[in-house]
Amino acid sequence: MLENFQPVPPDPILGLGQLYAADPREGKIDLGVGVFKDADGNTPIMAAVKKAEVVLHDMQTTKTYKPLGGDEAFRDAMREMVLGDSVAADRVATIQTPGGSGAIRQLYEAIRKINSDATLWLSDPTWPSHVAMANHMGIKIRTYRYFDSAGSNVDFGGMMEDLQAMQPQDVLMLHGCCHNPTGANLDAGQWNDVTDLVLKTGAIPFIDIAYQGFGDGLEEDAANLRSMAARVPEMLVAASCSKNFGLYRDRVGCAMAVCDTADKHAVVARNMAVLNRMNYSFAPDHGAAVVSIILADKGLRAMWEEELTQMRETMLTIRKDLADELRRQCNTDRFDFIADHRGMFSRLGLSKDEVEALREEHGMYVVGDSRINIAGLSGGRHVPFAAAVAKVLAG
Ligand code: LMR
Repeated sequence: MLENFQPVPPDPILGLGQLYAADPREGKIDLGVGVFKDADGNTPIMAAVKKAEVVLHDMQTTKTYKPLGGDEAFRDAMREMVLGDSVAADRVATIQTPGGSGAIRQLYEAIRKINSDATLWLSDPTWPSHVAMANHMGIKIRTYRYFDSAGSNVDFGGMMEDLQAMQPQDVLMLHGCCHNPTGANLDAGQWNDVTDLVLKTGAIPFIDIAYQGFGDGLEEDAANLRSMAARVPEMLVAASCSKNFGLYRDRVGCAMAVCDTADKHAVVARNMAVLNRMNYSFAPDHGAAVVSIILADKGLRAMWEEELTQMRETMLTIRKDLADELRRQCNTDRFDFIADHRGMFSRLGLSKDEVEALREEHGMYVVGDSRINIAGLSGGRHVPFAAAVAKVLAG
């Protein structure tokens, strides 16, 4: 039977890491998968996480199961961190999931279960797994214009024009902050206009927030999502702790469903917990317990927020330095937008051939659509990278 499996192409993001690992060249730079890197190119464990792990080790007395929907303290802390007080707590059904991807998967499952006719509207471009997972599950997709490649900014006119075709109970996926892969984000007024359109069409917004704290700040990055949540009857949210807590491999995240009234909560929460049961029973506990400990302890929370601020400021500095360096070395202002973008990624607007030349001739590993992980350029690596881009552009 297993011979029926067909070969599958490498993952567009993770496949790059394998190529990078096999490259013997010194000076190679990995700008692929979205993990934070320090000046030495390492992805350290955050100090607050290390301390919380010690606390967990000392206080944990059992490894018996937790509730199917996940740990209550974790779910409450995540709801507060993401939604603030934009909606009443008793309207929000939350399940703990294995990372943000797990949350997206579970919410896709929910959509398929409650309205298999729904069209999922995805930005063009978006994170490849948004598309791949929906295709894998047979969910109907339509894309909306999002990025103006020529200007490297949001094509808001095109987006609003395309979204006029949304139908009641369609699902509109938005990136809560730090759009992946472009780094170009809607402003508050644009979020407000999209909210008006959602209310007019009867579509339900689905916010993927995987980079809270990586853009302008923990509160700032959630502000638009919260304003929308305060105005719409229903909303889905997938939240991840992979990046802002650096808990990538521990798989920590949650899926939230905001109900229009509190009396729907019990049924929605139970259905979402059953989705956990159907797929993997219980989400992993360790990383979620670490997050709960940090968010509940004043001292650890302050330490974590300080570390998060440092990561964000590092990326903002790199953005500015890279834009300056590319302007200097390439003698063009076409990359100036990098300084204005927010989050972990920007799309450089290079052709496939140029991306390939960067990799093959210069050992610079950029995702095929010319997305770079900004954090991969810490420690002054933006200088050799800009030099390689300049050479490739010069042909
Ligand atoms: C990325 O976009 O690089 C991250 O979200 C990691 C992943 O799983 O793709």
